[in-house]
Parts: sequence; C-alpha cells; structure tokens
Amino acid sequence: LKVAVLASGRGSNLAALLAARDRGELPVDFVLVGSDKASAHALQLAKAAGIATLALSPRNYPDRRSFDLDLLARIAASGADILVLAGFMRVLDGEALAPWIGRVINIHPSLLPKYRGLHTHRRALEAGDREHGASVHYVTAELDGGPLIAQARITVHPDDDEDTLAQRLLPLEHRLLPTVLSLMASRRLRWSDDGAQLDGQPL
Ligand code: GRF
Repeated sequence: LKVAVLASGRGSNLAALLAARDRGELPVDFVLVGSDKASAHALQLAKAAGIATLALSPRNYPDRRSFDLDLLARIAASGADILVLAGFMRVLDGEALAPWIGRVINIHPSLLPKYRGLHTHRRALEAGDREHGASVHYVTAELDGGPLIAQARITVHPDDDEDTLAQRLLPLEHRLLPTVLSLMASRRLRWSDDGAQLDGQPL
C-alpha cells in the first residue's frame, strides 16, 4: 500500500506512523508528505526519513478548489493509494475529494460526532465532559464529518486543562492512527456509504 500524508504542523502523528513502520508493524510505503505550510516540522521529519515532500501555499491559488485540485492531483501523481490527514488544518473541497472517497482518513482530537472543528479540548472541558478522546474517520467534504472508524478514550480529571488533556491524549492518537492504517493495509477495513466496515461487518 502506498501512502501519502498531509500535515500542517508539528507532525507527531506522522512520526508515530514512521515509527510503527520502522518497528515492522505497518507494512506500507510512504511515498509523499505534503503540507500547506512550508515551515511545517512534519516536512523536516519526512525529509529526514528520506520521503519526498511537497509544500504548496494556498496563497498561490485563486481559490480553495483550485488549491485542493492541484494538491490532490500531485498526490495522485505520487502513486499514493491512501491519503492520511495527520494534523492537516484545512477542509478539502468536495469535487477534489470525489475520486478519493474511501481512501482518505483523518485523525481528530475529539470523540466525534462531538466537537468538529477547532478547540476540541477546551470545548470538552467547557461542556463538563467526563470523557474525552480522539477519532479516526473517513474524510468527506463535511468538516470532521465522514464515517467513523475508531476512537481512543481518556477520562477527564477535575484539575485538567487544555494542555493536560492534549498531553494525555496524544500518545493514544499515536497508537490509534497506525492501527487504523494497518487495517487498511491488510484490506480489512472498507468504506461503505452506510459507514466503515471491518471484515465485512459494520463498525
Ligand atoms: C493532533 O491533535 C490531531 O488529532 C489534530 O491535529 C493534531 C496534530 O498534531 N488533527 P501533530 O502535528 O500530529 O503533532
């Protein structure tokens, strides 16, 4: 399985994917790491790992759709079968995504369908949630809205703040994303219009 990854920032989830591959737990080829930010640390991690990189700035395009179409065309040209959004802070256009439906996954730091979008840790705290977590889902044009694949949960403590929640959740994200990608690599996970399927069963 050939995999491309898009990341806008730090890239700790990318690092976790590469570490899982290096341990022999993730039988995929990382063919491209792309970003909408030339300064993203994720690009440095990719270069250090000998993976081709791509930095495209939305400012050089007339509109969102033309950026997304070019980005996904270049990802297709890399030979990638699967695209992983690992901290990619943009919503992809529906027309650009259409040929990719069922082949793009995203990791989001909330228990979806709760808290799509930004500031998920703050919103979980403000709501008084006793439980918080992260989700991996198939990507559609709807922000953080595609079929759910898997979640990881943590208990919220009374003295938690946004930083402590993020710190406790991140190591779980780092296990969740490689686990889901390895299910895709073994062809056990499938997209269906009704939701994700594992071994032919609804999740
Ligand atoms: C993670 O919390 C991920 O869930 C969210 O963005 C963050 C990316 O972190 N989508 P990193 O760049 O992988 O370190």
